[in-house]
Amino acid sequence: MRTLLVAQPIRWVVPMDALTQLAQEHADFIEKLTELEAALDEMMATREASDEDVELLDEAVRFFDEELFPHFDREEAFLLPTLEAKVGLYGSLVNVIAYEHAEVRREVGKIKEGLAALKAKRGGPHDKEIEELNRHGVFTVQFLWDHFRKEKMSLFETARETLSPGEMEALGRGLTSSPSARGPSPR
Ligand SMILES: [Fe+2]
Ligand SMILES: [Fe+2]
Repeated sequence: MRTLLVAQPIRWVVPMDALTQLAQEHADFIEKLTELEAALDEMMATREASDEDVELLDEAVRFFDEELFPHFDREEAFLLPTLEAKVGLYGSLVNVIAYEHAEVRREVGKIKEGLAALKAKRGGPHDKEIEELNRHGVFTVQFLWDHFRKEKMSLFETARETLSPGEMEALGRGLTSSPSARGPSPR
């Protein structure tokens, strides 16, 4: 009897570990940040904020509040304390990462203020408001690029090297436990 050879789908799936999932989220975030950068570039070139630019900026603020900050919260709740217990807070990247989260939260506050000022001035010249928003926006985008790279290349590697399989598993459970069910960051 002739057997028809059909490529079988792989029946087992390698579970994505918690750190790979965080890195995947970074990749999604980079797309959002690229859109923000494009809106800023356009406003700087035309010296005018179009309705579409404002929509994109509103969307960027929503992204920071609803996607980026919950990601920070999960890293702070589960990854950083676990790593701190292993490698310490100082002289490690743990305090650097925590500091950078605070810095991004502060800058996003400036972006929100800048966007409110821009919206208020759109009836007349609003060059200064565009420049101010661009300054904070570009800083945030570049800072986050560097932050994600630092996490992927260094922090996550440290975690892989120092956490036991049990700790990695607990980390995965923590990171995937319904982030939206958690309250806002206490900061
Ligand atoms: Fe982070
Ligand atoms: Fe991250």
